Amino acid sequence: MAQKLIIFDTTLRDGEQAAGTRLGAREKLEIARQLARLKVDVIEAGFPASSPEDFNAVKLICENLKTVTVCGLTRAITKDIDICGKAIAKAKRARIHTGVGVSDIHIKGKFGSAKYGKTIAQKKVNILKMAVKAVKRARNYTDDVEFYAEDSGRANRKFLYEILEAVVDAGATTLNIPDTTGYAIPEQYGQLIADIKANVPNIKKAIISVHCHNDLGMAVANTLAGVKNGARQIEGTINGIGERAGNAAIEEVVMAIKTRKDFFDIETKIVTPQFYRTSRMVADMLGVPVPINKAIVGDNAFAHSSGIHVDGVLKKRETYEIMKPSDVGSPKSKVVLTARTGRHGLKHRLEELGYKLTKAELEKTYKRFIEIADKKNEVFDEDITAIISDEIHAVEHTYKLQYLHVACGTGTLPTASVRIETKGKFTQAAACGDGPIDAAYQAIRDATGLSPKLESYSIRAVTSGKEALGEATVKITANGILFVGRGVSTDIIEASAKAYVDAINRMVAAKKKSKK
Ligand code: KIV
Ligand code: ZN
Repeated sequence: MAQKLIIFDTTLRDGEQAAGTRLGAREKLEIARQLARLKVDVIEAGFPASSPEDFNAVKLICENLKTVTVCGLTRAITKDIDICGKAIAKAKRARIHTGVGVSDIHIKGKFGSAKYGKTIAQKKVNILKMAVKAVKRARNYTDDVEFYAEDSGRANRKFLYEILEAVVDAGATTLNIPDTTGYAIPEQYGQLIADIKANVPNIKKAIISVHCHNDLGMAVANTLAGVKNGARQIEGTINGIGERAGNAAIEEVVMAIKTRKDFFDIETKIVTPQFYRTSRMVADMLGVPVPINKAIVGDNAFAHSSGIHVDGVLKKRETYEIMKPSDVGSPKSKVVLTARTGRHGLKHRLEELGYKLTKAELEKTYKRFIEIADKKNEVFDEDITAIISDEIHAVEHTYKLQYLHVACGTGTLPTASVRIETKGKFTQAAACGDGPIDAAYQAIRDATGLSPKLESYSIRAVTSGKEALGEATVKITANGILFVGRGVSTDIIEASAKAYVDAINRMVAAKKKSKK
């Protein structure tokens, strides 16, 4: 049976340390709830001694989440540990994560004062004592104590083995081996984990955890090298957010392990279809958008655009996809339409939009499509439907908006009246709605006697300044076929009404054509 890998999420601690971001306790709780749905094993919720907000966040998450281990970070200082102990007091399962810098660079830089010893050798003796004392203190609050040997990636090996052995004897159950500065190379980091397994005599009493930073873009690769060499806990953040270039992205590590189970032969409890949602929540709350080409959760992670790829993926998905979008909860694979998209890709998208064209119609549409694609990076569904409207469904305007009056304001019920001309006859109607546009649309439906399903409505400014033109785009469907209407005016309600009437005209024209 495959062994289990523990997933330790530090989005709310190391992730939140990312420049320019700060979360309140309520926001942290929201993210923690989502992380629990994702089924991470441990949530590092903050550094309680660092601020009252962090203390409250850790406390709130401990009080509310009972299915996951909640962890608080501390330095190897009694005061920090006692504060953390208070924050986690009400947790069902709690961990204290304490530790100290172990590389010579950290020791000289952070423990330069003579009170820690005059020589580096004396300082190491004192640091080891501090580490042991901290672990013992933390054990007063919980049996689950993790020790971090900060900057392990650059530490002197002899001292590293010594301090790890001592803290395990003091009661640490997990040993975190951070590559704090993202300095390691995968082979080296993997070897470091293997060497710790071979050289720390009591290592079997603890779980080795890997915590990698991305300064050289190798956080995920280093993490995986650690797992391959015996680490059984990984630490990372959603979207790889974190200090400087960030931490290992949990979604990438987990999907690599899942997709390449043949290589890693290890399992996690993660509910991977929750990744996309978690990623977007973290991005929105921290205000750090997900790059479109981000592995696993980026908007283009399952998008295909070149003719050869589109053709291949439409024939057999596996030709160019190693995971299914549903595996990570991403909206389904999409074909991005560009000048490189072939006829096959365009035809597929047309069919998805409900259009079945003859060969000659497809050719006509493709020619126009290429003209547009040469001018734009990406051709959107709205552009396609506009091409179809112009080239294939060039329409006679059965209904014309003659008159529109809308009354709305604070404390009044939005009402609209319209007059529609059709074949020289006029029909009037008035209606109320949730807002002025809703009222106008209802009046148009009453006047035309048609009620297609409104799929979406959007408005954008096509020029700037006070006199800006608003362009409304309305999508309606009838019998599964999509019709897009557009309307432009400096008055956005008029633009919206025109767009709706335009979409209705296109629908009526298509119906007439199909009857011929
Ligand atoms: O990168 C690091 O070393 C850390 C420790 C505090 C665990 O984040
Ligand atoms: Zn870190």
